[in-house]
Amino acid sequence: MNDVFLNGDFIAAEHAKVSVFDRGFLLGDGVYEVIPVYASQCFRLESHLNRLQRSLDAVRMTNPLSGSQWRTMIEQLIERNGGGDQSVYLQVTRGVAPRDHVFPEGVEPTAFAMSNPLQAVPEDYKSKGIAAITVPDIRWQNCHIKAITLLPNSLLKQQAQDVGAQEALLIRDGYLTEGSASNAYAVIDGKIYTAPKDEKVLPGITRELILELAASANITVKEQAVTEQQLRDADEIWVSSSTKEVLPVTTLDGVAVSSGKPGEVWKKIDVLYQQYKQQGGF
Ligand SMILES: Cc1ncc(COP(=O)(O)O)c(C=O)c1O
Repeated sequence: MNDVFLNGDFIAAEHAKVSVFDRGFLLGDGVYEVIPVYASQCFRLESHLNRLQRSLDAVRMTNPLSGSQWRTMIEQLIERNGGGDQSVYLQVTRGVAPRDHVFPEGVEPTAFAMSNPLQAVPEDYKSKGIAAITVPDIRWQNCHIKAITLLPNSLLKQQAQDVGAQEALLIRDGYLTEGSASNAYAVIDGKIYTAPKDEKVLPGITRELILELAASANITVKEQAVTEQQLRDADEIWVSSSTKEVLPVTTLDGVAVSSGKPGEVWKKIDVLYQQYKQQGGF
């Protein structure tokens, strides 16, 4: 079994224990990050650590580790778990305290990290595309915080799974926000549309890279949310996340998206994405 990091120590996963009074367990009072690792190298670690800091600031929690402490710990964790391609998960909760909604004083945050082999994306997700459904965005008003309270996201993803789809695309006030565990894009007349970075979406690290790659290829990006109707009429729909990269959505609510095949703009971005990964030095 793997080693994990818990409050300053590396220990075997089966021995890692957290108190039942941890506020993460009782109140979902915590934030997290997921970082892909290719050939033992973290993908865009700086961006992930910056987002972790922003999430912590937003919920008024102290960062238990400095940037260099996180980096060293993550390097060691990857090494201990055999290197190669992994997925690193970081979680910080407000710590252990008698149950109370009000924040406790003088409590040490709980810091946890684990690393697992990176699951390869099934080949047909790229060659054929994935199926998605549209569902109302039932989440809260602070979706820019990467909070561990994922019950709405989990319910929505399960709804997709129940009908054989891989992702749920979320509609709020008539507009597409993002996916249950991904950012979402529509391609209309050769331009890429994705919701702006505000409190309705998570500012994805993969999204950040996609926008850079699009700019390098002179593809216009509009950080503008599309309506549900524009989504249904789009030439292409994609989703992105750290562990799934960029995937074409070829069926929406059981109906083919345009030709029903992965689109040309997606293909261009995917080629650039794979090249970027192979170059290393992220
Ligand atoms: C709700 C939501 N939006 C967007 C993303 C994509 O973020 P990233 O590209 O940083 O993985 C995720 C990732 O899990 C997510 O859960």
